[in-house]
Amino acid sequence: MRIPEHIIDQVRSQSDIVDVIGEHVKLRRSNKNYLGLCPFHNEKTPSFNVNPERGIYKCFGCGKAGNVITFVEEHLHMGFVDAVQHLARRGGIEIPEEQRDDPTGELARKDAALRALREAASFYHDLLASSDGAPARSFYSKRGFQQEVIDGFTLGAAPASWDAGMKFLMERGYSIENLVDAGLVITREDGKTYDRFRGRAMFTISDDAGRVVGFSARTLTDDPGQPKYINSPQSIVFDKSRVLYGLDRAKRAISEHRTAILVEGQADVISLHQAGFSATVASSGTSLTQDQLRLIKRYADTIVLLFDSDEAGQKAISRGIELGLAGGFDVKCIMLPPGTDPDSLVRERGAEPLGLLIKNAPSWLAFQTDRFRHQGLLNDPVQQAKAVRTMLEWIASIPDGLRHQFLLRDLADTFRLDEGMLGSELRQIMNRSTSSRVESRASNRTFDQQRGRDPSPARTPQTEIPRLVAVLLPPERELIRVSLTVENGLALILHDYHVTEKTFWSEGGQRIFRRILVAEEEHGEVVQHVLNDEDLSTDERRELADILFAANTPSESWGRFNVEVPTYDIARPIRDAMLNIEIHRLHQRIDIMTQTIESTIDIDERKRFMYQITSMIKRREDLRRHFEDDPRDLSWQHDASVS
Ligand code: CTP
Ligand code: MN
Repeated sequence: MRIPEHIIDQVRSQSDIVDVIGEHVKLRRSNKNYLGLCPFHNEKTPSFNVNPERGIYKCFGCGKAGNVITFVEEHLHMGFVDAVQHLARRGGIEIPEEQRDDPTGELARKDAALRALREAASFYHDLLASSDGAPARSFYSKRGFQQEVIDGFTLGAAPASWDAGMKFLMERGYSIENLVDAGLVITREDGKTYDRFRGRAMFTISDDAGRVVGFSARTLTDDPGQPKYINSPQSIVFDKSRVLYGLDRAKRAISEHRTAILVEGQADVISLHQAGFSATVASSGTSLTQDQLRLIKRYADTIVLLFDSDEAGQKAISRGIELGLAGGFDVKCIMLPPGTDPDSLVRERGAEPLGLLIKNAPSWLAFQTDRFRHQGLLNDPVQQAKAVRTMLEWIASIPDGLRHQFLLRDLADTFRLDEGMLGSELRQIMNRSTSSRVESRASNRTFDQQRGRDPSPARTPQTEIPRLVAVLLPPERELIRVSLTVENGLALILHDYHVTEKTFWSEGGQRIFRRILVAEEEHGEVVQHVLNDEDLSTDERRELADILFAANTPSESWGRFNVEVPTYDIARPIRDAMLNIEIHRLHQRIDIMTQTIESTIDIDERKRFMYQITSMIKRREDLRRHFEDDPRDLSWQHDASVS
């Protein structure tokens, strides 16, 4: 269902955020804000702020932030639409029957496919209880699954027939196209159609809101000609890289301790839930993706990787560490002995041993050290240096710089190395990966050259996860702050200073600014819209809330923008921010080019690079001088720009 935009605005503006949050958190007034104990993490001294004027909240302890709708979504674990409905009911606002824009008919198609999937899930589930469900039933009972999880996870059985599922759904009014959209029916080349899932045990896959989006179907025979699992295909309703099996049922337990347990398959998830580990999810049918981690980020800060030690498990743990660290998680690892998966472990030995393993799970650093030791890598100094470098590369990918310091100390202790030396190694790695990131945008050619010279594994998480990490430069934050909090600030920035998306250096900055412009064009309340903008990552929205809160703190110089200010005072910060971004950009380019020169043999090419570096340095010096000018003087923008 799609709620009209103006109703969402009405719900947001008419819900008293202090009132709504006050039902769950004891708040007391402190200046302009209200203060209380954060409901999203454990704390003894209050750092959870609510600002009624802007309609937003933010915890300075854990970083959670948002507006009244986000609060209901996160605290009461509701989807966006449910949260709006909840608030509407509370405020006596009527939501009109859905009336939506659907020119291509895609929404209607999606809708029909989703309804078909839901009916298919109950069809398979009902069949499990019938005589046709006997083989699947016996499979589940061998697995030790009890009725409670069989119902809770809507486990089922697909009939051993080419068209029983199809017939059932078509009798209920679904067209063959609906069923193909849903991934339930396959069309052969000659146009004949048949059921995708036949004679298999059916695991229903739901998205985090609990909507059925697909199935994973396990074979019930030993026939080696049959694939063990048949999964729903990618479709308009199912994207396996954005779904985590079990998340809809696990999210509450995950957010309780801000910790998620990641396992390999559906059977593991179900066994673990049954044994009381309800914070368990799996990236079934695909290796872990950053989108899946983004889903968890909402509920957890720590992930526990729980895999067996076969080759697939080994790979999964390495990938989990890399993606997890770059995504800002604390990562813990448990590797079970070969041939034991979490499912078989709890089945054979009960919950207790696994509970201990989870409770004492080592951090990735200790785990990885042990792993290197087992691989015999720590016996010789060359291999050991390689191992340490790999870990430094992982540390380099962690967005929170403060954590680097703690990890460096751990690493130094573990390997009895000098912390200062490790620190300078780390800085080198970080410089290298920052420049390669910029470089990849600046010029593919030089990027390839450098890749050939130095294939650094740290680049993988660095380049793959731009969206998880909010990377605004301080001057970028200032531009955004002015756009959002200064009266006419956005207009000034756009029309007088000709700021565009391109003015921003970071991808996050570009995206946030783009969304601000969209919000400005399409809706009235820009601030509220960007805070809820689905096109921004959670981290980006958090960064926005941060900026808004900082703008509100009277002690900060920016506070003065809440009162009447002469144009001159706004002009300076805008101009300074723009100059700073431009200088940063040049700085990066100079760095890259300097590195590229090192690996360039061709004399003419070297000369050309040298010339470019010289002119960029000159331009940087010029720009620096402009700080002294009248900030309303825009001539620096029109000077020859080097690129
Ligand atoms: N998987 C898959 N396709 C396959 C094999 C496995 O998609 N051909 C995925 C499934 O999501 C499965 C997970 O990988 O849940 C783990 O595989 P595995 O342990 O082999 O599945 P189980 O059903 O647990 O097998 P077993 O009974 O041998 O433990
Ligand atoms: Mn298994």
